[in-house]
Amino acid sequence: MHFKLAFIGFGVVGQGLIEILIEKKNLLEKKYNFTYTVVAISDLFKGSVYDKNGLDMEKILSIIKQGKKLNEYPFGIKDMDSISTIKDSNADTIIEVTYTDVKTGEPALTHIKTAFGCNKNVVSTNKGPVIKESLNLIKIAKNKNLHYGFEGVVMAGTPVINLFRHTLNGMIIKDFRGILNGTTNYILTKMEEGMSYNDALQKAQELGYAEADPTGDVEGFDALGKVVILTNVILGKKISWEDVKRKGITEFTKEDIELAKNEGKRWKLIGSAEIKLDGTVNAKVWPEKLPINDPLAGISGAKNALTFNTDELGEVTIIGPGAGKRETGYSLLIDLLEMNKKFS
Ligand code: HSE
Repeated sequence: MHFKLAFIGFGVVGQGLIEILIEKKNLLEKKYNFTYTVVAISDLFKGSVYDKNGLDMEKILSIIKQGKKLNEYPFGIKDMDSISTIKDSNADTIIEVTYTDVKTGEPALTHIKTAFGCNKNVVSTNKGPVIKESLNLIKIAKNKNLHYGFEGVVMAGTPVINLFRHTLNGMIIKDFRGILNGTTNYILTKMEEGMSYNDALQKAQELGYAEADPTGDVEGFDALGKVVILTNVILGKKISWEDVKRKGITEFTKEDIELAKNEGKRWKLIGSAEIKLDGTVNAKVWPEKLPINDPLAGISGAKNALTFNTDELGEVTIIGPGAGKRETGYSLLIDLLEMNKKFS
C-alpha cells in the first residue's frame, strides 16, 4: 500500500527513520509492497514545509545536516504549525516524534487525538501519551479502524510491545524487571571504565541516547515512564506516574562504582513491577548493586534488557538496543509495516 506521511517533530529519531526509509525503499516495496511519500514536516525549532505531492527527503536531510531551517526547502507551503499540518495536510499517517513530557503527555497527546479526530493513523515513539492514556488511545484507534503504533516507547526498536502483542499471546505475566534506560546504563558503564559522570552524560547526549532534557534520564523519570507503560500494556494493570517509587543515578560517584567493582558487583538502574497477591502493583525504578554473574549486570552501554516472568515459559528475557537514532527510527518502521499489513 501507499502511505502519505507527515512528521510532527523532526529530531534524531525522525531523521533516523528517514535514513532507513531512503536506504530500504526498494526492499520495502519488493518484500512488503510498502511505498510512501513524505508530504509534510513540522518541527518547533526547524520550521515546517508541506507539499501535497511529496518532499525530496534527501534534500530535506541535507538542509537539516547543514543546520538550516526547513523554509530553505525550495518548494511547498511553509510555516504551518503542528496542528494545521495534522489537520490540513493530505497525510494519512502522522509520525509523532516530538519531545516527551512524561508528566502531561503534551503536546504529543493533543497531536495524537487531533490525528485520530481527522481519521489519520499515528505511529509514535513518544512515551508521554502512552504513559498518560495508552488504553484510551488504543481504544479510539480501534473504534475508528486506525493504526496506533508505539513500539519504540520501550527499548527503541528492540520489539518488546510487539513481542507481547503478537508472540506471547495467551501468556500470563506477573512481573518484569529490567534495564530500561540507555543513557543511565551508558553512564554507569563508562564510569566503571574511568570516565567522569559529566563526560559520560555529554557523550550519551552526543550519541542521541539522552532525552532533550537529560534530567528525565538521570533522575529515573524515563525508566519510570517505561515501567508505567509496561505495567499498563503488558501486566494489564492500570497504574500512573505517581504509583512508581523512583531514585535516579545523579548521586553516584566514581568511588561508589569502584567500591562495587571491588566487591565483584555492579550498579544498575533497575525498573520493575510485580502484581502482588492482593492484585495491587509494586512498581519502582531504583539503583541496585548486582552480583557480576546476574544476567542484568552484563548489559553494558546503551543496551537494555527486560525479563518477563511468565506462567508457561518461566523467565523470558529480551536484550537489545534501548536508545539511538537508527535503533529508535527502526521502531517506527516496525509500526509502519504493521500498519501496512493491517490495511493491505
Ligand atoms: N532517553 C532514552 C534512553 C531514549 O536513554 O533510554 C529511549 O527511550
